[in-house]
Amino acid sequence: MAHARRTFICGPALLTGAVLLAACSDSSTPTSSDSRNSPNFPKPPNVNPAPSPVPLGSALAGLMPFEAAQFARGQAVFVRVFTPATGLGPLFNNTSCAGCHDDPVTGGYSDDDFETHATAYHRGSCNMLASEGGPVFESHVTPAVTALTGLTAAPVPKDATGTGIRFTPDVFGRGLIEAIPDQTLRQLAWQERSNPDHIAGRANILANGHVGRFGRKANVDNLRDFNATAFLKEMGITSSLDPQEPLIIAGKTLPASIEPGGIDLSDKDLNDATAFTRLLAPPPLQAQTAQTNTGSMLFDKVGCAGCHVRSLKTGSNAASPSLSNRTVGLFSDLLLHDMGPALADICFLSANPSEFRTEPLMGVNHREEFMHDHKSTTIDDAIQRHGGQGSAARARFRALSPAQQAALTAYVNTL
Ligand code: HEC
Ligand code: HEC
Repeated sequence: MAHARRTFICGPALLTGAVLLAACSDSSTPTSSDSRNSPNFPKPPNVNPAPSPVPLGSALAGLMPFEAAQFARGQAVFVRVFTPATGLGPLFNNTSCAGCHDDPVTGGYSDDDFETHATAYHRGSCNMLASEGGPVFESHVTPAVTALTGLTAAPVPKDATGTGIRFTPDVFGRGLIEAIPDQTLRQLAWQERSNPDHIAGRANILANGHVGRFGRKANVDNLRDFNATAFLKEMGITSSLDPQEPLIIAGKTLPASIEPGGIDLSDKDLNDATAFTRLLAPPPLQAQTAQTNTGSMLFDKVGCAGCHVRSLKTGSNAASPSLSNRTVGLFSDLLLHDMGPALADICFLSANPSEFRTEPLMGVNHREEFMHDHKSTTIDDAIQRHGGQGSAARARFRALSPAQQAALTAYVNTL
């Protein structure tokens, strides 16, 4: 099947926002007085990427030899299975990164591997339940923990006000997402404030001053930090960034001797695993047809592209030349949006229960379950569940003819 790459050739449809003007130049560029992503703004369907030779799960094209070597070493860390003897636990969700991120290839998503997050939300403030082992409550424990406590999983404490089931997303193309400058996301948020659909996403400004973009609540800004936390929370693997074993279960602290002491993961392994997640190429786009070209046009017209921004440009100071000044077709603004009470689950740091990061649509073509809870098995159903700031686009989608709706969902299924 003909695949296409996500390195976009700049087209007029990409140029309706000032942020993107820097990305390319085109004589048909609308002026900045055009309302960005206005549903009535005419856009040609021809905004799809050109064919790419890079199959799913490969590294970005054009890596330096040392980067290719680091990618290969990092992949080995990503698939490494940990045991209690090599530091697994005492609490964990799985025994390797690839134990969850493996569908359809290493680095992918999972429909059946999930984790449980729980927090407490009171009068606008979020308690991460850290003193009770939160916000991640692990589904497995080592035999030593069971022998001591009789427990086989970390229970969600009674004072949690919400539980969020988080299914495993893809990590393809995440290095490009990491390399999108904070300023781009801040500008998008500023522009969205005047969007006629009232989509008004907000940049999740973290304690370190950067704009969060990873996780469904956009609560981490960089892959090294995210991965170190994943090693700790998913597998109980400590590193120099996260040296404290997860020892709290059911309100009690386990003795430190329950686990071999010391740091489980070397900095080299953490850096290699991070290089792997950083240098994975974005997923290829499927071939387009006359129907999906219509769908692409409707995607803009009904206002999907207001939040699912087709592409953004990485900065020039990215970790690798292969990540610098690239246009990534992520189909997200990476901002937090209030999606209404029906989707709401948990608060997470400054994000409210109803706020979610616009899920990048890149890779939809190889996924089968959608939304943070994976309860949607069709694109149509995912759209129907967009409330809050997604309501206007949903209403316009509902007003389309059945053939137009089919064209739009067929298009999304190629992303
Ligand atoms: C138990 C299954 C599971 C395991 C094991 C796991 N992950 Fe994940 N991963 C997830 C889930 C669930 C999320 C989404 C978390 C959220 O929304 O806050 C995620 C998100 C990510 C992301 C961010 C993707 C994005 O766009 O937000 C990265 C990067 C990542 N994982 C890397 C890793 C690495 C590296 C490892 C191994 C140390 C790992 N994961 C192990 C389930 C898993
Ligand atoms: C107000 C911003 C906004 C608009 C407008 C919007 N979306 Fe979304 N979309 C989101 C957010 C936020 C999520 C994540 C929701 C969740 O995880 O529960 C999402 C999730 C999705 C998903 C699920 C992706 C996955 O892998 O889980 C699909 C598919 C989708 N949107 C398609 C569309 C289409 C098609 C339109 C236009 C009809 C649209 N969206 C309009 C913000 C928006």
